[in-house]
Amino acid sequence: MSSFPTTRLRRLRYNSGMRRLLQKTHLRPDHLILPLFVRSGKNIRQPIPSMPGQYQLSLDELAKEIQQIKTYGLGGVILFGIPEEKDELGSDSYSDDGIIQRAIATVKEADPDMFVCTDVCLCEYTDHGHCGFLHEKNGRYEVDNDRTLVLLQKQVLSHARAGVDLLAPSGMMDGMIGAIRSELDKNNFSQLPVMSYAVKYHSAFYGPFRQAAESAPQQGDRCSYQMDYTTAPELALREVELDLAEGADLIMIKPAMAYLDIISLVKQKFPSVPLAAYNVSGEYSLIQAAAANGWVDQKQLVFESLTAIHRAGAEIILTYWAKEVAHWLDH
Ligand code: PBG
Repeated sequence: MSSFPTTRLRRLRYNSGMRRLLQKTHLRPDHLILPLFVRSGKNIRQPIPSMPGQYQLSLDELAKEIQQIKTYGLGGVILFGIPEEKDELGSDSYSDDGIIQRAIATVKEADPDMFVCTDVCLCEYTDHGHCGFLHEKNGRYEVDNDRTLVLLQKQVLSHARAGVDLLAPSGMMDGMIGAIRSELDKNNFSQLPVMSYAVKYHSAFYGPFRQAAESAPQQGDRCSYQMDYTTAPELALREVELDLAEGADLIMIKPAMAYLDIISLVKQKFPSVPLAAYNVSGEYSLIQAAAANGWVDQKQLVFESLTAIHRAGAEIILTYWAKEVAHWLDH
């Protein structure tokens, strides 16, 4: 290898033509999934204070949103529902006329070609705000893993009947993927894919989302089911391994920006598994807030962040900026 002064690496970035020629990591709208929050009511497009630029949409407004983004070429949308009534079992989550089931139908009516993914979890639907069924044990409330699986099975079946394209279970319960896969297969939905939130860390980056989805736990936290970010990265590999063994088709890692090492590790160990990363609410709101203050350039930071996530190994990115990126790429 020659060295300076024969070699001058700056030649490789001397002008824009050379820089363009060497671009390797490209963002494309068809690899982006836009999260949308859906609630009951009519004519509601309610701004989410903790996530400037994001809204809770009633079904009629959801239809308008889908009409608007139809031509953006996005990979799809992921729907989060805010039910009118919450209860102990999160029963709206598996009701055939629940908010999310109606939202799936609304999207498909507005654009039959829109790829629809749903978050499969209980936290938006339970009155206590936890991701599973709560039971009392030794004077303390805790999430009953196996009873939760039964509720998740009911939930995925109702999403399947409503016409969903991809199910994304996010509750971090043990055996969740296997339970969902077997229920789908038993009911003639063996073609329906599952994208597991396999590696989901307990993170303060979800803060703004809890206001958006009205899903903050009333008591306690999610430490006993979401992963601890101080544990060995290899534990993430076990989560992935198990979910694949249980039948997961795609794997998701969440959050994204502070976990690029985990994305890269999982991609290296499982190169053939389609990998997604969720660029979560806190990552969004931090940049929105700084940009609103004029401290950072929003567009440049969004491109830099999403490119890093993609370069680390995520083919698919769930991001609240999906529309903006599609628009910027087109102009
Ligand atoms: C539901 C769920 C959450 C997010 C996605 N699905 C909240 C949580 O786990 O606390 C967070 C997404 C975001 O912050 O943008 N379990």
